[in-house]
This record gives sequence, C-alpha cells and structure tokens, in this order.
Amino acid sequence: METTAAFDWAGVVDYAKRSYSEPPKTQYELPGVNVENHLDVPVACVPLWHSVVTARLNLPKGDAAALRQGQKRLRAALEEIERIYPLQPGGILIQVAYGLPYFKEFIPAAVTDKMMPRALENGKPGDWAVIDAIRFPKDPADLVLEQNDISFHFKSDYNEHLSDVMRALFQPGTQTLNGIPVKSVYVGDLFTVTSIRRGFAGRGMPRTMATRLGIPGADKIPAGAMLFMGFTSSHVHGLAQGTLPSFETIPGYTDQTPESYFANGTMMHLSHIAIDLEGWYGLDHKGRLQRMFHARRTEAPEVLSPSQAPQTTTFKEQMEEDAKQHGLIGHNAQMQFLSRLDKDTVTVYGDRLPKGTVLFLRQDFDTVENPFEFNAGAPVSPAPRPGVHFIGFCPSAQLFEKVRKEMDSVEMQKKYNLPDENTGFTKFLVTTHRQNYLEPSRSHRSFPLAELS
Ligand code: HEM
Repeated sequence: METTAAFDWAGVVDYAKRSYSEPPKTQYELPGVNVENHLDVPVACVPLWHSVVTARLNLPKGDAAALRQGQKRLRAALEEIERIYPLQPGGILIQVAYGLPYFKEFIPAAVTDKMMPRALENGKPGDWAVIDAIRFPKDPADLVLEQNDISFHFKSDYNEHLSDVMRALFQPGTQTLNGIPVKSVYVGDLFTVTSIRRGFAGRGMPRTMATRLGIPGADKIPAGAMLFMGFTSSHVHGLAQGTLPSFETIPGYTDQTPESYFANGTMMHLSHIAIDLEGWYGLDHKGRLQRMFHARRTEAPEVLSPSQAPQTTTFKEQMEEDAKQHGLIGHNAQMQFLSRLDKDTVTVYGDRLPKGTVLFLRQDFDTVENPFEFNAGAPVSPAPRPGVHFIGFCPSAQLFEKVRKEMDSVEMQKKYNLPDENTGFTKFLVTTHRQNYLEPSRSHRSFPLAELS
C-alpha cells in the first residue's frame, strides 16, 4: 500500500507557487518576465510599477553582533515576503543593494580588504570594482552625489503590492501581507529611510500619466510608448541576458571568479534624471530616432522598437564615421562600443557569445516626482516633473564611468565640432542625484559580509 507519510500537507494550495520558477542566483534576473514580439523585434515586458527606497543603517558602528542580528532579520523578512507574494511581476520582485558607506563604516577593513571585488580593467589598479559615483562633464552644479547605506528596488505589475510590502517592512504596527498577518517582516527600526522614489514603465503609462497631470509635451508621446521619450527601452537585444553583468562572468573586468563571495553580484548605478519633454518633442520623428539610436536609422514614426540585434551595433569606427558624415551621434551609437562585446567571447561559465552581444543591463523606469515622493535631505515639489530613475548594471563602476562619459561625448564634440543638440540626447536631460551600489547575489542580499565580521 502507498504511504502518505512523505506528502507535504502543510505546503498544499500554495498560490505563491502557481507559476513557480527556481529563484535565480542573481537578484537582477527577473523570473516571469515574458517577451513580446514587436514586428519581429523581441522586447522584454518589464514590471509596470516600481519603487526605490534608500536608507542609512541605524545600527551602532563596530557592533558585529547587532549587524549579524540585523542580517538574520532582513533575510527572514525577505523570505517571508516571497512565501506570500510569488517571485514574478504578478507578485513582487525585490533587489537589495549596498552603498560604499555600508562597506566602509559597518564592515571591518580586514574583511573588506580581503573580500571586496577589485577592478582589473579601467581605473586605478587594485581599486574596488564599486567606487564612488563621479560628477560627469554635463552634470549640473547642484547634482547630489548620495551616500546611502542601502537601496531596495521593488517591482510589480500591481502598485498595491509595492505599498503593502513597503508598509510591512518599514512601518511599525500591525502587519499584514496580502491580508495575511505576519510577524517577522518589520525591519524599519534598522533603517532611517532617506528617500522613496516611485514610478512606472510600459503599458502606455507615460502618455496616460503625462496627459492626466497636464505635463507639457504629453500629447506628443506615442500612445504605446513605454518611456516618456517614446522608444522602447527593454529590447531583449539591448539588455544583458543571464548573468552577463555580474562581476565574474566576462573575464577581464574584475578579479571575481564563480567561487568568489561576490560571484553573481554586480555594480549598480542609481540616478534620477529630469527630462525636457517639450524640447525633445520639438524635434521631428527622424530627429528623435537618430538621436536615440544612430544617424543612419530610417524606421517609420509608428515603429517604437527598432531592431537592436547584434548586427545593428555601432562600433567606434562607425561612430566616428557618423560624426564625420552626418554631424550627429545617437545615444546608442555613443556607448555601444563599450556596452557590447567587440569580439566573440567565452564566459567563465562556458557560454559562447558573438561580437555585438550586450553586457550592460538597464532597469530604469519613468517618474513624475520632483524629485522623489519623499526626500529626507531636501524639499519635494508637488509640481509633476517628467523624469527617469535610471538603474544600470555592469561588472564594474570603472566600466560604468567610461560608458557614461561617452554619453556626454565631450571629446567627440570637440573633435568633430558637434553641437549639443546633435550629441545623443543629454541636452534634454538634467541629472539630479547619483550613487553607485554593490548588488550582491540573492544568497548574500541581506547585509553582505556581516557573518564574517
Ligand atoms: C532619460 C534617460 C534615458 C532614456 C530615455 C534611455 C533610453 C534608451 C533606449 C530607448 C535605448 C535603446 C533601446 C534598448 O536597447 O532597449 C537605450 C540604450 C542604452 N542606454 Fe539609455 N536611456 C537613458 C539614459 C541612459 C543612461 C543614463 C545611461 C548610462 C550610461 C544609458 C545607457 C544606455 C546604453 C549603454 C544603451 C545601449 C545598450 C546596447 O544596446 O548595448 N542610458 N537607452
């Protein structure tokens, strides 16, 4: 007779596992994100609602026991959330990243000296692969270079899921998640929240939000656009796939290996950028298309997702040719010679990648906040302002710096006498805040290195 003793009765009727997939090793890979076909161009259907919470730690510096206790509590809280909400856009996806003040002020130098990933290429030899964000040539004088200890990025197709989870994590009092009473989720006493930043991506939201809020230029935003500037920004061919942005995956960027503590971790840059929508839509369709992609693009106005396949890549020689021939370089053309592989490459995991494969990952989303919903450091304006919370991942902050400098293209401008309006689209952007973070693997997402302190 069959025995029922091994059957897990406690685990039955679990809606959180309705479409269960094994959690990835990284935090930045997003289970459950499907791919849409836009006229044979594959596009990732990213979660609709986003929020970022940044904070400083309330723990006493040098108190290893308190840090380890905090590590246990945050780990338990995140696990409890994922037992209740499915790990997919229909539930919630959470990423936790740590700023340099966390590693410098809370983890003993003897531990960080040994464990932090170091950049092998670009920048000063021996430097950590996460260094402070810098002010870029076209940043405004009042740019804020932030010094947060921690950043949480929450994503879901349902705005209420974000609010529910943020309430349970950060607000004291009776706690529920999806209506279910929970005990171990509140960790708000560990943090002083420094900002709450909310936004959206996809589903025609940029035009809807801008129109309803009366933002000038709203009527020009294409109805299906996923971001304010009109073009799709989640092309499968324009987003690093698998673990490509991790410190260790593509040989040469850092000293990390698949066995390292920070394997499956990455460098994350978080910035807030305001957009001059009226200025941008003052350009005609061709002007926008070519400033977004490159000067040789001819797609019709209704095409919001022009192909980003490897063979469309603009490498350095072609970028110089565009500047010479057309007197214009597009946003993609400015950076693709660094954000994509310039030769066929084999990863440390044995995957063969053709030239033109992208290794840079973006998870940015639009906002109408001015600049944030809550900002501990400065006043918030109720007047809506279109913008982007830019979130980029790559194997080192040194590489990010190099890529982002190309977006300002000061040298190319000088060399080819390019006017500001023909140099990508930075003329229409104002960056207000920046910080670099280390986003560890899922297994080390709660206070990394605390257990070694
Ligand atoms: C308002 C801000 C921004 C908007 C609207 C924007 C939009 C886009 C779009 C539409 C694409 C091409 C579509 C795709 O590949 O999915 C793209 C590509 C790219 N963006 Fe941005 N972007 C913004 C800011 C930035 C920033 C701050 C960086 C930082 C370095 C950046 C880096 C890149 C890179 C590297 C690519 C090319 C990826 C590749 O094809 O290799 N972008 N962006």
